[in-house]
Amino acid sequence: MDSSKVRYLILSFVWMFPITPIPAQEKDAIPSGQIYQDASQPVEARIDDLLPRLTLEEKINLIGGGAYMQTHAVSRLGIPEFRMTDGPFGVRAGPSRVYACGLALAASWDIDQARKVGVALGRDCRARGINILLAPGMNLYRAPFSGRNFEYFGEDPLLTGELGCAYIQGVQSQGVAATMKHFVANEQEFNRRGLNSEVDERTLRELYLKPFEMAVKKAGVWCAMDSYNPLNGTHTTESDWLNNQVLKGEWEFKGLVMSDWKAAVSTLATANGGLDLEMPSPKFLNSQALQPLINAGQVTQATLDDKVRRIFRVVFSMGWMDRPQLDNSIPKDDPQNDQVALDGAREGIVLLKNSGNILPLNPMNVKKVVVLGPNADPAVAVGGGSAHANYTHAVSVFQGLKDVAGPNVDVIRVPWSILPTGTDIAAPGKTPLASTTYGAEGNPPFPPASIDDIKSADVAVICVGYNGQSARTGPDWEGEDKDRAYDLPPGQVAMIEAVVKLNPHTVVILNAGGSVATAGWIGDVPVLLDAFYPGQAGGTALAEILFGKVNPSGKLPFSWEKRWEDCAAYGNFPTEASKGNDYKEGVFLGYRWFDRKGIEPLFPFGFGLSYTTFAYSNLELQSSPSGDFTATFTVQNNGTVPGAEIAQLYVAPPSTGVPRPMHELKGFVRTALQPGESKQVGITVAREDLGYWDPATKKWTVTPGQYQIEVGSSSRDLGLKGSVTQVEKPN
Ligand code: GLC
Repeated sequence: MDSSKVRYLILSFVWMFPITPIPAQEKDAIPSGQIYQDASQPVEARIDDLLPRLTLEEKINLIGGGAYMQTHAVSRLGIPEFRMTDGPFGVRAGPSRVYACGLALAASWDIDQARKVGVALGRDCRARGINILLAPGMNLYRAPFSGRNFEYFGEDPLLTGELGCAYIQGVQSQGVAATMKHFVANEQEFNRRGLNSEVDERTLRELYLKPFEMAVKKAGVWCAMDSYNPLNGTHTTESDWLNNQVLKGEWEFKGLVMSDWKAAVSTLATANGGLDLEMPSPKFLNSQALQPLINAGQVTQATLDDKVRRIFRVVFSMGWMDRPQLDNSIPKDDPQNDQVALDGAREGIVLLKNSGNILPLNPMNVKKVVVLGPNADPAVAVGGGSAHANYTHAVSVFQGLKDVAGPNVDVIRVPWSILPTGTDIAAPGKTPLASTTYGAEGNPPFPPASIDDIKSADVAVICVGYNGQSARTGPDWEGEDKDRAYDLPPGQVAMIEAVVKLNPHTVVILNAGGSVATAGWIGDVPVLLDAFYPGQAGGTALAEILFGKVNPSGKLPFSWEKRWEDCAAYGNFPTEASKGNDYKEGVFLGYRWFDRKGIEPLFPFGFGLSYTTFAYSNLELQSSPSGDFTATFTVQNNGTVPGAEIAQLYVAPPSTGVPRPMHELKGFVRTALQPGESKQVGITVAREDLGYWDPATKKWTVTPGQYQIEVGSSSRDLGLKGSVTQVEKPN
């Protein structure tokens, strides 16, 4: 059984038993009516009252995990253990709901939806008595095949930051602390514990630190999780610069910094490097290792106290000592959250190709639909690893099509799937060929039973890509601690090519945490939908989109290249062979790279098709004395069906002392429009957001001059243009 299963079993066992009861004889010893127990007292006063009551041993116990997913209790003082769980899109504490993954949420560009997902997860946590949710992941999409892309929000720091902030606000509004992770420069999974991320400070500041800075300053995130990887030669769990100078100093972060699980590598450097809580257990921050350092003055009492202070600043601010964390009024299987899951799936699906307007299908004209591919059934709702949720129910594409198409449409499942064992589910009586041999020379593209079906079908739906439930070692698994292949899993291209030849009305649906190699098949495929990992309602949403009950509105949160060699990280991304992980591309990641190098992407950042069309007009730019400006413009739905448009605003700076991206995303707004409807929308951009990090002065700098403002429907389709001027010293 693979480790994630074992971990789940342990967690399920832990959750079956309530918080450790305080032994009766100790209850009498618990002081009462003390300031630290008084919810009406200021948080800092409660901490001031608590600290001197703790022994040195108790303080040290508090900064190390008490069990796999919780802190230590201090029963003598009535302090319980505080519980944590994974599951950025499905609480990993027994069976739970599962929502569309980070990349799908990013594809929705819907800040309100991000907040709703946060609220739903917060409620799921309270229904299970959980204090801390170990999410959201806010690393960036640097290469198509990084194993945890699906957990994150794409290649752009602003999009990542805005969605992450809304998610965090949603979670924390329910009395659960969110955790921004993995802090920082953990954009790959290959050798994630040992590979040193080499990133210059300007690139860190403008790209990789930016979402975390927003989470602290805009969302008030209470927890941070340091990453596994060293950063410029120092483990993040030991990095005084990262944790003390930047996070706690410059950004004034008041919460706690925990390690990723078993990411700590030392005692002294870790204690003085700003880590407040070693998880899952105190391998290094324990009494035996720390006491001598404290006695010798190498770790001061003040340093230890600050760690405990930060932990209890979260505890008291969240009210965890003043009310039960378990809220029995919230059902563990909360039907209120089904709508959140369905909305997230509907909005997070991107229609990338629709040649000949094959979609939407008309049930009046379509009588037979065949569904093929390994991801057609059962549902592929979420990727693997610690983000994998153990969902109670999920709708597959096959089931969704049967539900939505109605009784007059024959939906047939052609049994063709890639199993970890490499055998196929072939037609009855046939000896299953190894799936990798279907489509090989001389072998049929898939089980013979199906050929007559995709010829006579009105449309063939092929569900391909990766998944999070097969064996971690399989070629089709995607999740943490492993970067996947760039190509589709074995046999899938052969299937696509075979089916397209048999039926020109072929729809390909992809599940993956990013792009895949398309050379050789994309040109022949008339319809392509990117569903990422759409959560428990993915099959329903996809069927609704195929039959036009929902108009697709998702837009890519990453650039989809024509080939891996076109990507910024090509040659710099760690693979089995490489030694280092040098972010040589600097700030030129994703569309910033394609723009700078004049490379045409296959599908640009911010691109997605709709069943209607939108027109942009009347751009007006209004600057304030401070240098902030507001862009207002009109968006019109000039088609015949309702739809939602994601308008994007990019800014092209004047030339400056350092090379800068041609333009960068500085705002976006999602607008629902009825056929023929127009709306005036506005996007406000702060002057400070126009700056760059000057390596020489180590300061954010806004160059005086003219800034080109571009508004439109993708990074490569910006029809409205204007400019604003920034002066040296605004009022
Ligand atoms: C894992 C992941 C992290 C997760 C933690 C607890 O290794 O890197 O995202 O929250 O450990 O499971």
